[in-house]
Amino acid sequence: MRETNFIIENNARHLWHPMAHPAEMQANPPRIINSGEGVEIVDIHGKKVLDAVGGLWNVNLGYSCEPVKKAIRDQLDELPYYSTFRGTTNSPLIELSYELAEWFKPDGLSRSFFTSGGSDSVETCLRLARQFHKVNGQPERTKFVALKKGYHGTHFGGASVNGNQNFRRNYEPLLPGVIHLPAPFSYRNPFNTTDDAEITAAIGRLFEDEIAFQGADTIAALIVEPVLGAGGVIVPHETFLPLMREICDRHGILLIADEVITAFGRTGAWTGSRLWGVQPDMMSTAKAITNGYFPFGAVMISDKVAQVFESNKSAVGSIGHGYTYSGHPVGAAAALATLKETKRLNVAENAAARGEELLSGLKKLQDKHELIGDIRGKGLMCALELVSDRAKKSGAAKDVIQKVQDATYDAGVLVRTSGANVIMSPPLIVTAENVQTMLTALDAGLTAAGA
Ligand SMILES: Cc1ncc(COP(=O)(O)O)c(C=O)c1O
Repeated sequence: MRETNFIIENNARHLWHPMAHPAEMQANPPRIINSGEGVEIVDIHGKKVLDAVGGLWNVNLGYSCEPVKKAIRDQLDELPYYSTFRGTTNSPLIELSYELAEWFKPDGLSRSFFTSGGSDSVETCLRLARQFHKVNGQPERTKFVALKKGYHGTHFGGASVNGNQNFRRNYEPLLPGVIHLPAPFSYRNPFNTTDDAEITAAIGRLFEDEIAFQGADTIAALIVEPVLGAGGVIVPHETFLPLMREICDRHGILLIADEVITAFGRTGAWTGSRLWGVQPDMMSTAKAITNGYFPFGAVMISDKVAQVFESNKSAVGSIGHGYTYSGHPVGAAAALATLKETKRLNVAENAAARGEELLSGLKKLQDKHELIGDIRGKGLMCALELVSDRAKKSGAAKDVIQKVQDATYDAGVLVRTSGANVIMSPPLIVTAENVQTMLTALDAGLTAAGA
């Protein structure tokens, strides 16, 4: 490894960062994170902060999860790679598929298809949804319905169902045949109400209207996040997902739950679908499946979908989709160890308890800081929406948002900003004391920016 000065001088010079303007990164290079321990990270200058971002919603068990590290090391020694394309597979993957079928049994999901991350998992769901209908004798079902403000990764399919301009405009034209419904968002919506149940009913009516207009027999699937994450932690009313499930069922439309963030306890329930009492037809997962230590994902498939594919006797049922790294043995070993630790530590219960403490602390900060327009959260995914004017709900200026992040960092906690939102998604092993540290640092950050 080169010396520190070399690393600092070359920061952002020869690489482009995701979700950032290359020129802006060169002008304001990103923080260089050199090490991690427990729920803390240390930057190149030796400053240690609590990681309230949790890597990127994925390091649920923190940075010192020895069983996962050991599993990766051991698997690298045993078999560092082999393909799972027709004709070969590997032992940890077979064991993992068994464990995942157990893990997702309450969600009615029994088969897995492996990927290298969240965008791959979303793409796989979309493609398998179309194929399901072809195998099932309804080849015209090709369209997708999604939510505005939803985030589904950045592949062309995922970007097409994505509900945020930032990830769409510069890459258009996207997939044809995608319909977006409004998000179940009480703070900002086109229905002129803040009543979550009313908003849900209105979205349901729009969905029905769109189905009648398009023709149910042209729609393959609805894709939704049980709690919308990157779009600003939007928590739907408890009736929202059950209503979407019911409408999908009535019209033969598949329900894809995008649980890349929510599948392993983050909301305080083991899955976001379980949180709302709904069984999806397919579920995209990734991120925390390996505690973020290895790029890996799994699409979970319901018995209903599996039965249609598995009973098919023709080429239309053959899956013409997959990745070189689908079912990577090191990822599978990492996932097996992660699942075991996730269960042993019962992190969903901790996420629920710590999440309530965090949310109530944030509400107190809202009373104190005019900058905070809205507070949202479920389990250990929370957001503050910053505004320059509470009555008008106009978004806070970019430099103010940056100041909140910088001053919060100076006070010992890294938070994430996305547009006017400050997002928190710490490891699910945080203690009550860690939550207080987050609130104190954020208070300092908001004070500095509001001054
Ligand atoms: C709900 C959801 N779907 C898909 C993705 C894309 O995952 P990845 O960045 O691993 O491709 C993300 C990433 O944050 C996500 O939050």
